Amino acid sequence: MTKITVVGSASMDLVVTSSKRPAAGETVLGESFKTVPGGKGANQAVAAARLGAEVTMIGRVGDDHLGQSILDNYKANGIITEYVEPVTGMASGTAHIILAEGDNSIVVVKAANDMVTPAYVDQAVEAIRAADIVLVQQEIPEETVVHVSELCAKYNVPLMLNPAPARLLPKAVIEQAAYITPNEHEAAILFGDEPLGDILRRYPNKLIVTEGKKGVRYFDGTDEVVVSGYKVEAVDTTGAGDTFNGAFAVALAEGKSLTDSLKFANRAASLSVTKFGAQGGMPTRSEVEGSL
Ligand code: RIB
Repeated sequence: MTKITVVGSASMDLVVTSSKRPAAGETVLGESFKTVPGGKGANQAVAAARLGAEVTMIGRVGDDHLGQSILDNYKANGIITEYVEPVTGMASGTAHIILAEGDNSIVVVKAANDMVTPAYVDQAVEAIRAADIVLVQQEIPEETVVHVSELCAKYNVPLMLNPAPARLLPKAVIEQAAYITPNEHEAAILFGDEPLGDILRRYPNKLIVTEGKKGVRYFDGTDEVVVSGYKVEAVDTTGAGDTFNGAFAVALAEGKSLTDSLKFANRAASLSVTKFGAQGGMPTRSEVEGSL
């Protein structure tokens, strides 16, 4: 079984649906409110586990009831939680999501996710050393992302960096990552507003820019390649990028080619948007393979 380690956030997503997104200073009436598990790290871990990988999570939760629900959800999805330690006296991460007009707006309060520190990751270094691939995102402190990158270099483990939410990163982290998976908006923040084609050329077979339902784009050393997405009836796009990353990591760790891995990941992401909640539509292995 392929081994994937995720270093990242877990949150409870507090989701309201509304026919209208409120403007600044405006109050609108919503239609529903639900609480579902989320957080980019946890979402990527669940996506990879549903697709058959052995997944170890390195993260933190608060010592509140949300933290317990997040832990229960990891266990329900078969994720190894040996390195998910509650932080005494701290709240769990929350994401405050408005689903309106066909898209989401999200405010994340990191809370316990800020305690995924370099020293904390050091206690879990065995899970990094043993992984076929390590996944990291940016809802944890920046110095931790840098440290994970250094550990992956030290132990020669490929690192997939999903730079979301976007922020500038040290060049060494970008150079060290085996794969970087921003969307177009995150790529612009990370690399500046040079034409995308020029940026892709600097990182052949490594920088994979996701473009929503259009699919993904990368440079293969000779040409710019687009791997198309799949058309589906979208219910909730929250977590589509996370499903893409989890699935992409699983396929690469299993030794699939880059293009096949991207097709697999696009398919998984397209299925994920057909149900409500970041993790609600994340597909199983047979659901992806049956529809490729
Ligand atoms: O990527 C989607 C996730 O971003 C949501 O689940 C929410 O928790 C936010 O962190």
